[in-house]
Amino acid sequence: MNIILLGPPGAGKGTQAKILEEKHGLKQLSTGDMLRAAVAAGSEIGLKAKAIMDRGDLVSDDVIVGIVAERMDKPDIQKGVTFDGFPRTPAQAGALDKMLAGRNEKLDAVIEMKVDDEALVKRISGRFTCASCGKGYHDTFAPPKMAGVCDNCGGTAFTRRPDDNEKTVRDRLAVYNKQTAPLVEYYASKGNLHVIDGMAGIAQVTGAVEAVLKKVKG
Ligand code: AP5
Repeated sequence: MNIILLGPPGAGKGTQAKILEEKHGLKQLSTGDMLRAAVAAGSEIGLKAKAIMDRGDLVSDDVIVGIVAERMDKPDIQKGVTFDGFPRTPAQAGALDKMLAGRNEKLDAVIEMKVDDEALVKRISGRFTCASCGKGYHDTFAPPKMAGVCDNCGGTAFTRRPDDNEKTVRDRLAVYNKQTAPLVEYYASKGNLHVIDGMAGIAQVTGAVEAVLKKVKG
């Protein structure tokens, strides 16, 4: 099964993609995580992407389609993929259609997560991640059970993304509305768009995602 989680920055795509990977073995394919790994590794792609990401713009379609195509060649995606943060432009959506057709696969569902702008800013400003295992947290909505200690690995060092400040979040939202929101219409016209309320708590959103999966499995 292949699904897309479509939504603005902070909508909860990464949070739900990780849950889907744990529960259903659908591999999370996050282009944002892949780019951040390239930045951390100091690769050529990473060096080019860093300034673009820090100001909240989109990395070029060619680079993104290239890294996704390479990732899709890995053998660990037999159970399917949750695309998180991809596609983000009509050109990327067209490239994904071709990639899936070339593998005799299809897109089972596109789940649009709707969240108000002010809630997105709050979510992103409070987000942090365990520096050892990458588990994601939020100061208010998803804090670790014991303050300062990762629930997953016991790590005590945490990081915040350089693009997670209010100014860049508002810029990322504007980019989303201009370049990515048109995909809603694209997938609606193909008949595989499912809209869910992303304003609900994490567990309720997971329930709504599960309901979509049940529906498309038939
Ligand atoms: P990317 O990493 O994809 O960032 P994004 O789309 O802006 O999304 P986020 O990771 O910020 O949010 P999310 O929806 O995953 O929310 P999360 O689950 O973490 O992209 C970063 C940059 O890379 C882009 O700006 C661009 O430059 C580049 N890039 C990436 N892909 C690209 C592409 N395809 N093309 C071109 N450029 C690309 O949740 C956020 C917080 O809220 C967390 O703290 C979480 O705990 C909390 N939370 C989650 N759900 C809930 C809930 N239901 N209630 C309360 N809190 C919640």
